[in-house]
Amino acid sequence: MIGPSWLVEDMLRVEKLLLSTAGSSDVPLVGEASTHLIKAGGKRVRPALVLIASRAGEVGRSETDLAAAAIELVHLATLYHDDVIDETETRRGAPTVHSKWGLEVAVLAGDYLFAKGCVLAATAGGDVTGILSRAIAEVCEGQIVETTAVGDPRRDADEYRHTIELKTAALFGAASELGAATSGAQQHRESLRSYGRHLGLAFQIVDDLLDLIGDPEVTGKTPGTDLKEGVFTLPVLIGAARSEELAARLGAGEHDLDTVLPLLRSSGGLDLAHEEAAGHVERAVAALEGLSDCDWTASLRSIPSGVLAQVALV
Ligand code: IPE
Ligand code: IPE
Ligand code: MG
Ligand code: MG
Repeated sequence: MIGPSWLVEDMLRVEKLLLSTAGSSDVPLVGEASTHLIKAGGKRVRPALVLIASRAGEVGRSETDLAAAAIELVHLATLYHDDVIDETETRRGAPTVHSKWGLEVAVLAGDYLFAKGCVLAATAGGDVTGILSRAIAEVCEGQIVETTAVGDPRRDADEYRHTIELKTAALFGAASELGAATSGAQQHRESLRSYGRHLGLAFQIVDDLLDLIGDPEVTGKTPGTDLKEGVFTLPVLIGAARSEELAARLGAGEHDLDTVLPLLRSSGGLDLAHEEAAGHVERAVAALEGLSDCDWTASLRSIPSGVLAQVALV
C-alpha cells in the first residue's frame, strides 16, 4: 500500500510481528503452512487501517501493532477456510494451502492462525479481544449464510447486502475501530468504525466485480470463481433481476464467464453494482466529517476511491 513514510515504518514492524507469530511453531509443517500466504503477498489493507486510524490518538503504542498483526492473522485464517469452501487453486498469485498440503492442513492451519491472532489480541488487552471476536463471529455468520444461498440467481439482493456486511464489512469496521481503541481515541471509535464498514462494503462489491472482469495477473485469483461455485454476487443478482434470460440461464446451470458476461453487461448489473460501491465510498468519507484535516485523515479519505479505481468498466 502506498502511504505516508510513517505508515511504511509502522507496516514493517507489523510485518515482522506477523511472520514471527505465524512462524513460531516448532513443527516445521505448521510454520510452513501458516506463513505460506503471508510470504505470497497480499495488500495488508486491514492492518494498514488499524495503523492509520491509530493516529487519532497516541501514536506508537505496542497495543496498536499487536491489534494490526492480529487482524491480518484473522483475515488470513478466513482466507484459508474460504479457499477450501470455494475450491480455489490460486490466492495471492500462489497455490492455495489446500491445493499444496490438502484439506486437513488448510482447515487446521486456518484454525491455528485464528488462535494466534487471538493470542496477540489478548496480549494487547483492553477491548481488542472483544472487538476482534465480535467481528470473527460476524464473518462466520456471513460465510454460513452465503453457503445457504448457493445456486439461486433469484436471491433477494438485500439478503446479499446483509451477507457482505457480515462476512467483509465487520472486519473492516473492527480494523478502523481498533486503531482508535488502542490509541486512547475513544471519542472517534464510532465514526471510524462506520468509515470501515462502508469501506468494507465497497471493497467487497469491487472484489465481486473483479471476479467477473478483473485481470488475474493483478488480482492473483482465478476469474469466474464466484459464478463457477454458484455464488451469485451483487452485479449478478441485480442483472438477473433485470434480465429474465440471464436469470434463466444461470438457473439452468450456465455459469461460464464467457456466456454470462455479455448478458450481464447488457443487463446493467455491472454498472449498477459499481454505482452502489461508489455510494459506499462517499458514505465512508462522510463518516470522517467530525475528524480534523491532517495527513492521516487524508490517507483514510483517499483509500475508498483507490479501492473503486481498481475496476475499469468499459
Ligand atoms: C480478500 O481480501 C477477501 C475479501 C474480503 C474480498 P483482500 O482483497 O484484502 O485479500 P488480500 O489480503 O489482499 O490477499
Ligand atoms: C470472502 O469473500 C470473504 C471472506 C470472509 C474471506 P470472497 O470469497 O469474495 O473472497 P475472495 O474473492 O475469495 O478473496
Ligand atoms: Mg472466495
Ligand atoms: Mg471474491
